Amino acid sequence: MTTWLFSFPEQAGFASQLLAAQGSLPAAGWQQGDMEMRRFPDGESYIRIDSDVRQCDVAILCQLHQPDNKLVPLLLLADTLRDLGARRVGLIAPYLAYMRQDKRFRAGEGVTSHYMARLLSAHLDWLLTVDPHLHRISDLQQIYSIPARSLTAVEPMAAWIRAHVERPLVIGPDSESEQWAASVARAAGCPWEVLQKTRFGDRSVTVSLPHVTHYREHTPVLVDDIISTGKTMIQTAAHLQAAGLCAPVCMAVHGVFADGALADMQQHGLQVVTSNSIADPSNKIDLAPLIARALLSV
Ligand code: R5P
Repeated sequence: MTTWLFSFPEQAGFASQLLAAQGSLPAAGWQQGDMEMRRFPDGESYIRIDSDVRQCDVAILCQLHQPDNKLVPLLLLADTLRDLGARRVGLIAPYLAYMRQDKRFRAGEGVTSHYMARLLSAHLDWLLTVDPHLHRISDLQQIYSIPARSLTAVEPMAAWIRAHVERPLVIGPDSESEQWAASVARAAGCPWEVLQKTRFGDRSVTVSLPHVTHYREHTPVLVDDIISTGKTMIQTAAHLQAAGLCAPVCMAVHGVFADGALADMQQHGLQVVTSNSIADPSNKIDLAPLIARALLSV
């Protein structure tokens, strides 16, 4: 029985990498599904499926960066596939959005990570993602009612550090980043430190540096799950350099890069390394082999 992979048009490149990565795995059998997805002149979504999905397993590839434009077509695509007879319809979302609003920080706010989980669970049969922002939620299964599996980019990130950085010191810019920083450092076989960050608003943070001055001979590698405005990385790098360390490599799983953040970071002389969960010139870490292996057991 064919298992189909349908990708959003802007993710065709990642879909090809995924299918190519499967080529080296035994018993992998996903094939590219054909569909037309476009907007009507009034902005509504048009979807037409060209592959025969009856009784088949189907995966949709859609990273959820800038999610509000993608969610309606995603849900309509999932419903169309099921309506045409697909047996199971899953979602591969290398970047899973709406994970940071995981509590009501201020009275009256929505806990949108929970609502998003409910919405996706209502339209899909399974979810596969990479390093979702699990902080106050420790497991996706706490909010998703479908099987929701999170993979981690720790190994490929550590491999990049081992191959490219001399005498690395991994630094997590805040306590939330500790889970990634510690795991990446252990896998890379290098020391690590976690700093204290205070956030004053969407675009304003300060960072404290307890022990890092012991590491002036090392190359700092800042490791976080997400770079959004880049302020966390820029502020941390400035403090490290003021403390006498050299310019850090800034590494994150997901380069969200709001408001021209990548250019901003580059203007500050920072080297930026991200995975291809969101396509960007800073991508150096390929997640396709990781996801292709995981697809063997969905
Ligand atoms: C925070 O919860 C995340 O782990 C990142 O530290 C944060 O999203 C980075 O944001 P920004 O790039 O806007 O400072």
